[in-house]
Amino acid sequence: MGDQKIYRASTTAPVNIAVIKYWGKRDPSLNLPTNSSLSVTLSQSDLRTHTTASCSSTFEGPDSLLLNNAPQSLSTPRSLACLKSLRALRSELEDADTSLPKLSTYPLRLASTNNFPTAAGLASSAAGFAALVRAIADLYELQQSPTELSLIARQGSGSACRSLLGGYVAWDHGSREDGLDSRARLVAPKSHWPDMKALILVVSAAKKGVSSTAGMQTTVQTSSLFQTRAKEVVPKRMAEMEKAIKARDFETFAKVTMRESNSFHATCLDTDPPIFYLNDVSRAAIKAVEEMNEKVGRTIAAYTFDAGPNAVIYYQEPDEDAVLKTFLPILRQKEGWGRIETKIDGPGPASSQVVEALEAGVSRVILTSVGEGPISVQEHLIDDKGKPVGT
Ligand code: DP6
Repeated sequence: MGDQKIYRASTTAPVNIAVIKYWGKRDPSLNLPTNSSLSVTLSQSDLRTHTTASCSSTFEGPDSLLLNNAPQSLSTPRSLACLKSLRALRSELEDADTSLPKLSTYPLRLASTNNFPTAAGLASSAAGFAALVRAIADLYELQQSPTELSLIARQGSGSACRSLLGGYVAWDHGSREDGLDSRARLVAPKSHWPDMKALILVVSAAKKGVSSTAGMQTTVQTSSLFQTRAKEVVPKRMAEMEKAIKARDFETFAKVTMRESNSFHATCLDTDPPIFYLNDVSRAAIKAVEEMNEKVGRTIAAYTFDAGPNAVIYYQEPDEDAVLKTFLPILRQKEGWGRIETKIDGPGPASSQVVEALEAGVSRVILTSVGEGPISVQEHLIDDKGKPVGT
């Protein structure tokens, strides 16, 4: 009888939020970006994708994926590209050692769950593709480094390549046509600057906006601001940001982060037709951060926004009280904060107009911090018979 075994490996992978934004592709099929980008990996205690990869000669094809128990397609060009690259690496191992089971030829069954709402616009595709790649790489016992695996995750979703590493991560745009130099690189581990915290204001969007993939293509084709941004603005800011992270210089980190977010959203507005990701609630969050920095007399917090209205506010642990005090009315209303408020020392809540807008438009607040890269776990979402757990 042949190999009847069910092979399994599970991992969790983090979300990352860019402080230098990826926006624009020089090669859409390989997902090669026009400019480099840089992000902070966020803690998996608050935001993570958990994925189990399993394979067996006893499974009937085709490959399948369940996300939060709902079947998802794996036949998109992006998913196919990831699976093909991972199988090619496994098959190299099998060719070199013929005693290895031929996992590369077995159908795959994948199961994933997110510990946050997938539709909230919180970089779920980044965590999702990073977890998929890491879990299959573990299943196949691949020896490639996270940076080498980032080349594969990049083909799933550009920003996913940065979620293969923890801490502070750059994605170098690279110049090769085959994309082999367009990959994630560790700028600094979490331990270098563990004080970095993030407060996320999840803003309820009335309808889903333009997807990043579609939006950035239109920007590349129509925005004149975009050219200067990619050629001049971002390269300068990448250097400034790396230096600020190495020196743990929050003031510079914050200023570059905010200007970067604004520059990215300006190119969105300069796109034809214009793309609006920020709404009145996002603008109230910007105002709250501006007011707080002004009141404290230092830049203690920085806002940034991706392709949606959610605000991510970076700050350092020692300044937590000031930040929490600013957003206290929202924390009380959305997260049920009560008595703890009296113990918080800070500049006082944001102005009433700002608070009103946030109270009306924020659906949830997440308090998190810089975190580690993917983690192997023994909790499997597919049981030893190959069935999804809980079905
Ligand atoms: C605004 O990685 O979602 O979040 O490569 O087409 O999947 P695709 O795009 P995606 O774009 C992310 C854009 C961004 C900025 C960033 O994360 O750097």
